[in-house]
Amino acid sequence: MSVQTIATQPIEGQKPGTSGLRKKTRVFQGHHYLENFIQSIWNGIGGVAGKTLVLGGDGRHFNAEAAQVVLRMAAASGAAKVIVGQNALLSTPAASNLIRDRGTDGGIILSASHNPGGPDGDFGVKFNTPNGGPAPESVTNKIFEATKTLTEYRIFEAQDVNLSILGASMLGDTEIEVVDPVAEYAKLMERLFDFGAIRALFEGGFRMRFDAMHAVTGPYATAILEDRLGAAPGTVVNGIPLPDFGKGHPDPNPIWAKTLMDEMMGADAPDFGAASDGDGDRNMIVGRGCYVTPSDSLAVLAANATVVPAYAEGLKGVARSMPTSRAVDRVAAHLGIDCYETPTGWKFFGNLLDAGRATLCGEESAGTGSDHVREKDGLWAVLFWLNILAAKGQPVSELMAAHWRDFGRNYYSRHDYEGVDSAAANALMDDLRARLADLPGTEAAGLTVEAADEFAYDDPVDGSRSEGQGLRIDLTGGARIVLRLSGTGTEGATLRVYLERLEADPDKMDADPQEALAPVIAAANHIAGIADRTGRTAPDVIT
Ligand code: G1P
Ligand code: ZN
Repeated sequence: MSVQTIATQPIEGQKPGTSGLRKKTRVFQGHHYLENFIQSIWNGIGGVAGKTLVLGGDGRHFNAEAAQVVLRMAAASGAAKVIVGQNALLSTPAASNLIRDRGTDGGIILSASHNPGGPDGDFGVKFNTPNGGPAPESVTNKIFEATKTLTEYRIFEAQDVNLSILGASMLGDTEIEVVDPVAEYAKLMERLFDFGAIRALFEGGFRMRFDAMHAVTGPYATAILEDRLGAAPGTVVNGIPLPDFGKGHPDPNPIWAKTLMDEMMGADAPDFGAASDGDGDRNMIVGRGCYVTPSDSLAVLAANATVVPAYAEGLKGVARSMPTSRAVDRVAAHLGIDCYETPTGWKFFGNLLDAGRATLCGEESAGTGSDHVREKDGLWAVLFWLNILAAKGQPVSELMAAHWRDFGRNYYSRHDYEGVDSAAANALMDDLRARLADLPGTEAAGLTVEAADEFAYDDPVDGSRSEGQGLRIDLTGGARIVLRLSGTGTEGATLRVYLERLEADPDKMDADPQEALAPVIAAANHIAGIADRTGRTAPDVIT
């Protein structure tokens, strides 16, 4: 075995986005592509000599090969130790937990989250810092800078490490410890939640369906829900992780988890349904005949947090990404705690969690989490819901109705226009940005614009400023439109239009969200000229 120093040159476009570097799998498999990026991570974080890292991924196509490259490159640059999930698998929240729990120097997560996998799908690499969270912009900027000046990378010439057997081995001077990906995570969940109450719920005949979407959460869900909590065998479906996610799109929302939605809306539906995404950090919550939006879910968790042992003392504060509905703001006001509004992307929650300013965080894109790790956590959200349902003894639909009566209902929807010509999408945003100052006081589809700006975030903990984080337009009566371009797509541009309207009248809380939001949708089209600029008359995905 010997260290090879390979000459290379910068590869354009290796700029980490909302969540790490995400590209087509074939791009990552290209000559030097992965190696360049990994070496740039090492260079950007000041080297890995003597450091301990965690490594795992969501099991998608190229996961196993990429993990071997990372190990050989960590060893070639003198890492002391790499803790790897068995078969190179770790859900994102489990990786975050290991990074923290073992006091490591960070970790590499191989995942493109909810994006489809396979040779023609997507792949991704993310670096997480020692707090267990995604690297903040200060770090990703250094990594990106390093990609631009790279001239060589170092890699061990060696056989593949056998990652199927638990235990330690050496790769050069680097210890490779293969760990059970589920064990530590399951222990953490057991510490946070009232497993006794949830077990009693299942013993009482409560029925659940968990769709793991052939992604990484399958083994976690089976071990926790069926083996530890006594949910009926078969509760977890699509529980075997597959490199192409069974040709599915592992994004837990009503569109991509349609089979689950159909079951939950059908006759004889289970009491509770849930799904998770490719790397296990997202969640979808659905009761019998009752879909819960991620924004509402965050609000319900906040309102009922004290029934969970880990949060019995109350919440320090809550945080949501800017486009997430303001349902949780109303709960925070009621509880008298702070509510932070951050840019899109989990990395912006890290400082608030580390500083003890927020306990719960959430994003409209099916991400919910707390200070137990530094990533959003799909199964954690599901267990949180189960804990609440066990404590309240109410069906999901009743719980939601009661919540809306208490706090009002924030009707909410996101419209995505995918694969839009990048120039057209940028022109739409540039044009709207230029008109923002003139919008207040104008009317659109019968609604008056009250305020309009481009969101910028001043981090209250480290004072850093993040600009250009989405255009927001407040309308009369608590309605709001937000527009931003996706930072995780791999083809053209994806325009996201976030729509929200507050309903305080208890008699009007059962409407179809698209109908309830019709005036806001019309106003968005009018103000931004979406059809004219994109050539699209309807969104590709509505969640
Ligand atoms: C999307 C979501 C965002 C989430 C991110 C990573 O990013 O909108 O909330 O944090 O995926 O899971 P976007 O494509 O909008 O930049
Ligand atoms: Zn994910």
